Amino acid sequence: MIQKGEMVLLWKDDWMTIVRVDPETKKIPGIGIVDTGRMIGKRWGSTLELGRDCYTLLQPAVKDAEKFLKRGAQVILPRVGIQIALYCDVFCGKTVVEGGAGSGILTAILSKCVGKKGKVISYEMRDDHLRTAQSNIRKLGLDDKCEIKQGDITEDVTEREVDAFIIDIPEPWTALDMAEKALKGGGFFGSYIPSTNQLENVVKELRKRKFIDIRSFESLEREMIVKEKGVRPSFDMLGHTGYVVVGRKANFNR
Ligand SMILES: C[S@@+](CC[C@H](N)C(=O)[O-])C[C@H]1O[C@@H](n2cnc3c(N)ncnc32)[C@H](O)[C@@H]1O
Repeated sequence: MIQKGEMVLLWKDDWMTIVRVDPETKKIPGIGIVDTGRMIGKRWGSTLELGRDCYTLLQPAVKDAEKFLKRGAQVILPRVGIQIALYCDVFCGKTVVEGGAGSGILTAILSKCVGKKGKVISYEMRDDHLRTAQSNIRKLGLDDKCEIKQGDITEDVTEREVDAFIIDIPEPWTALDMAEKALKGGGFFGSYIPSTNQLENVVKELRKRKFIDIRSFESLEREMIVKEKGVRPSFDMLGHTGYVVVGRKANFNR
């Protein structure tokens, strides 16, 4: 059942928006003035007529975050974020340092992965991006699992012995000193990288620092269109977004 104060995703024909449910009327862009209190007590997945249309009431999913959250900085695709989490073993109870938070999409994915017992500490340099990320994280109800600090991920990280150090910043190699300091032995480093020359730089720098288990990859996904008369791949594949580099800190005689 939908409770007062929860975020509800309103879905109609692949269009979606989210709203906090309170016993009051609100203006929902794209729909109009709505008494959100009518959603309280409704079952998740049920439908409700709002204005001239009927919307399905869903729990917000992080995979859709880029469609309904405010974007300040260029965001990571959620499917790439979850791959980073997988390759950096970000699961229940882990402590993760991340930077920059940007719009908070990767922060949200990592926060979901660490569960109730884990924690994500994210560093963001820009004040406007910090506020966007914090507001997006609040909208997703994840603010108890992560802390977004204003600071430079290349200098200001105070956490030590962390399980993973994950970055999406323009010059990722500048954060490697900090990554070495913050990570525990065997801890995971992960970086989302826009271009191949940056990827090469990071990999070479990781090798110099004796990181092990280094892997780089690109993530591609092609949607399948299922119609009555046949099934075909989508013509609109997003051909390139960025690359991922991951590795682990080894403690050779340290
Ligand atoms: C591409 S965006 C990150 C997007 C984010 N991964 C997301 O999914 O929403 C890069 C962000 O890193 C921030 N940034 C750049 N250098 C930084 C640094 N040294 N420390 C902290 N934040 C930094 C920028 O201000 C920007 O907000």
